[in-house]
Amino acid sequence: MCGIVGYVGWREAETVIVAGLKRMEYRGYDSAGIAVVTADGVVSRKKAGKLVNLETELVEHPLASSHQGIGHTRWATHGGPTDENAHPHLGRTGRVALVHNGIIENFAQLRAELVADGVEFASDTDSEAVAHLLEREVLDGHGLTEAMRRTVGRLEGSFTLVAIDAQCPDTVVAARRSSPLVVGVGDKEMFLASDVASFIEHTREAIELGQDQIVEITPDSVAVTTFDAEEAPVRPYHIDWDLSAAEKGGYDWFMRKEIFEQPKAVSDTLLGRIGADRLLVLDEMRIDVAHLRSIDSIIVVACGTAYHAGLIAKYAIEHWTRIPVEVELASEFRYRDPIVTSRTLVVTISQSGETADTLMAVRHAREQRAKVVSICNTNGATIPRESDAVIYTHAGPEIGVASTKGFTTQLIACYLLGLYLAQIRDAKFGDEIASLVRELEALPAKMDEVLDDLGTTLALARDLMDCSVVLFLGRHVGYPVALEGALKLKEISYMHAEGFAAGELKHGPIALVEEGLPVFIVVPPRGRDQLHDKVVSNIQEVRARGARTIVLAERDDAEAERFADVFLPLPTVPTLFQPVLAILPLQEFACEVATLKGHDVDQPRNLAKSVTVE
Ligand code: M6R
Repeated sequence: MCGIVGYVGWREAETVIVAGLKRMEYRGYDSAGIAVVTADGVVSRKKAGKLVNLETELVEHPLASSHQGIGHTRWATHGGPTDENAHPHLGRTGRVALVHNGIIENFAQLRAELVADGVEFASDTDSEAVAHLLEREVLDGHGLTEAMRRTVGRLEGSFTLVAIDAQCPDTVVAARRSSPLVVGVGDKEMFLASDVASFIEHTREAIELGQDQIVEITPDSVAVTTFDAEEAPVRPYHIDWDLSAAEKGGYDWFMRKEIFEQPKAVSDTLLGRIGADRLLVLDEMRIDVAHLRSIDSIIVVACGTAYHAGLIAKYAIEHWTRIPVEVELASEFRYRDPIVTSRTLVVTISQSGETADTLMAVRHAREQRAKVVSICNTNGATIPRESDAVIYTHAGPEIGVASTKGFTTQLIACYLLGLYLAQIRDAKFGDEIASLVRELEALPAKMDEVLDDLGTTLALARDLMDCSVVLFLGRHVGYPVALEGALKLKEISYMHAEGFAAGELKHGPIALVEEGLPVFIVVPPRGRDQLHDKVVSNIQEVRARGARTIVLAERDDAEAERFADVFLPLPTVPTLFQPVLAILPLQEFACEVATLKGHDVDQPRNLAKSVTVE
């Protein structure tokens, strides 16, 4: 939630900050603001609405030249999306400006204290209280870094704070607790941002910040200390993607680009993890093999799309390893007092690696002495940093709020984990694993086939764009695909869409079916138990009641096609891998419907890409 930028160097700060905010607008887009240090002190501009409103404001009321500043794009928590509530917030005298991402839990108490001290608040935000506290410390004679240290000592909650002080030239100071922040290291210039995408056009050298750390940047230096004023180790890393990955590259939406990037993202995620014998090499599994052999249960914890990936993982991991797997929404996990022991393996899945619900689940699991493996797409994010091991999905930056390549690469990581556990626990013969691995390696080419043949899906989007309800059905791993297809449609097209287990329909939801209702049905490949035939029967059940059936099934599945009003063919793959293909037309359908409806596909209403509050 919220994107933060800080800059100090030789370029025009306004240009760097606005460009940086543009690349982070996906994190929150209900207001934006900037503050810079000029010869006349701190000057700020802020506006409700999307970044374009701030850009217009900057044209109408230009800022004086400056090489030191901060910026913010907001997803509102405390206080609605108004000009006043937009960040930056200034202290009482206007000497200090501050931007904040996160939530200050003891805000009411701090605000009461400041009001008693004569401070008049200009906004309803929790963040403004921090600006006043920080300025009070600065006015008491502390340097900006020390003032920040004293201020964070008063705060409860999660935060990234970035601040400037009119009397502290060439310096920007930031603090981080449970909320993302990275430093970009340039040549005589330094950047701070919630996400490296913000400064990727200027530098690919970055520094990770740890929990409870303060960083002071000047054009030539980066000094990292802990909240207790201890010097902290600096952990530099090289960003292995470039500006083109953070741009639309000719597509109308990031989401569309990311849909089409999936074959490559999947092959990148497989890369380096398969040996010549087609067995798995997961060097990053830094958990002792003996321990992994001893685990007696797995709990997968995630939110949204990542949760749907977890539901699919359950089928695969249980089938290959015979270890019982539970899948839990991260926001529910710790509140139900889950049974977690040192023999439980907790697997978290998060594209951003910053989702607060998932992060809290990681912490809870580790407190119960469970080992945590995280599947994550963001190098150095908080969740992987706090986990015992991490399997990175190499999807590259995912900027569209609706997750696409995040999902398919999470599935690949789950398959790799499941097969790896089967391998080290001797739950499967080597040749069985090798044959499944070959099927995984064949997936990118099959994904390309599906993506090359989306004409029917696009036509369908035109036909169905005015429908008020769409249902999605699936059985076995097709069920989470149905949930994910419905989520995609809801979040960007704002249509009422529901996913159901196909067999569950007759226990209630079938009452929703009426003449002409579009129902997508994911049909599993033939040949496994009676799974396929059961789903074909479910198609007939809804069709008999007037539904318009849109059937996703193997290309030559004549039986399924017979009952399809619209048939979306898929290449043949093992049942457990079918979600990687079946989700592709559903993603493109949602993207196209939302486009036709005139929605902002990449920045749907009320949502933010990375949800860093519980
Ligand atoms: O970054 P994460 O994978 O932890 O995010 C989890 C969900 O917030 C995310 O998948 C959300 O549901 C997406 N908007 C779905 O498209």
